Amino acid sequence: MIKKQLFSPGPTPVPERVLLAMAGPVLHHRDPAYEELFQEVREGLKYVFQTKNEVLLFASSGTGGMEGAVCNTLSPGDHALVVIGGKFGERWGELCKVYGVDFTSIDVIWGEAVEPVLIEKALDANPSIKAVFIQASETSTGVMHPIKEIAEIVKRRDGTILVVDAISALGVFELPMDTWGLDIVISGSQKAFMLPPGLAFVALSDKAWGFVEKSTLPKYYFNFKKERANAQKNQSQFTPAISLVVGLREALKMIKEEGLDDVFKRHKKLAQATREAAKALGLDLLAPKSPSDALTAIKVPDGIDGKKLKAAFEDRYGLIIAGGQSQLSGKIIRIAHLGYFQPLDIIQAVSTLELILKEMGYPVELGKGVKAAEEVLTSE
Ligand SMILES: Cc1ncc(COP(=O)(O)O)c(C=O)c1O
Repeated sequence: MIKKQLFSPGPTPVPERVLLAMAGPVLHHRDPAYEELFQEVREGLKYVFQTKNEVLLFASSGTGGMEGAVCNTLSPGDHALVVIGGKFGERWGELCKVYGVDFTSIDVIWGEAVEPVLIEKALDANPSIKAVFIQASETSTGVMHPIKEIAEIVKRRDGTILVVDAISALGVFELPMDTWGLDIVISGSQKAFMLPPGLAFVALSDKAWGFVEKSTLPKYYFNFKKERANAQKNQSQFTPAISLVVGLREALKMIKEEGLDDVFKRHKKLAQATREAAKALGLDLLAPKSPSDALTAIKVPDGIDGKKLKAAFEDRYGLIIAGGQSQLSGKIIRIAHLGYFQPLDIIQAVSTLELILKEMGYPVELGKGVKAAEEVLTSE
């Protein structure tokens, strides 16, 4: 028997409470009961986004939210700045291309964070840049970009907005939208929100709503203005993903019960424990300087087949982790700790890593990684 468990940075495990909530009969979305539910969810989302503004909800994966952010704020021929330090940064560039938005890219070595000064220089060199597109947590490399510092730079420019893909960041580490002055923040259900895939969330600052007023790119399903008007009546423009919204209410309750600060502290501890364990085993981290607390990307040591290492996690022990994408294929493994994760999950993942490395003939002292993780987990 092999018990399968998700250790991937999306989809992530779904708590039993949330699964049970979603198992009830499907409500009708034009009923008062749904409107009541939606009202509660709207408030809960504002708490997690740390914003007073409306958080829009779409029945789509996170990429839908990214696409909407492009086509609702820009017009044909507009210029954008795109930070590309991984697969999801590349996605911003692909979206700009599809919508006829010119862009300058800042290419960052995969595994490193962008230096804010490069953004400042690019904006100074081209003041017509209307939007800066970036990830808070670049899931393909496990890097956290310095969003607070970048927001300071963009905030000073009335003609530019900062669009943050926080799909694997929101609910993991501090990213207070209003306090930091982030203009668009996007997230998705299958990450720290502890839900199955299928919902995208997007919040806009007042400044970004001003851009929406002027945008002429085509949009239909992802029409932010229409969606906001509906949301304010506790409705949605089209049939919502009703059962997921029911699950979302439960997941938001869990986040509120724990408290956002403690949610961040938990993620931080789990991430530190994972990183220290990898180092204790003599392994290198892909992003040692600016790691995201959502997941840990570990370099596959020389002489070990990365694809076989990843496959062994699932085939031998039932743990579904992630490998590397594009240029990192076969070169890293990614162990997630975002959402419904607790200390013993990390011990399990680290122990599994030790067992597999030993089975693959890598010189590893069993228990060394586990000990390092336990030291972190028991520290103040
Ligand atoms: C940082 C980031 N951006 C974008 C996406 C794309 O989201 P989705 O697959 O939900 O469309 C992901 C998903 O893994 C992600 O982690």
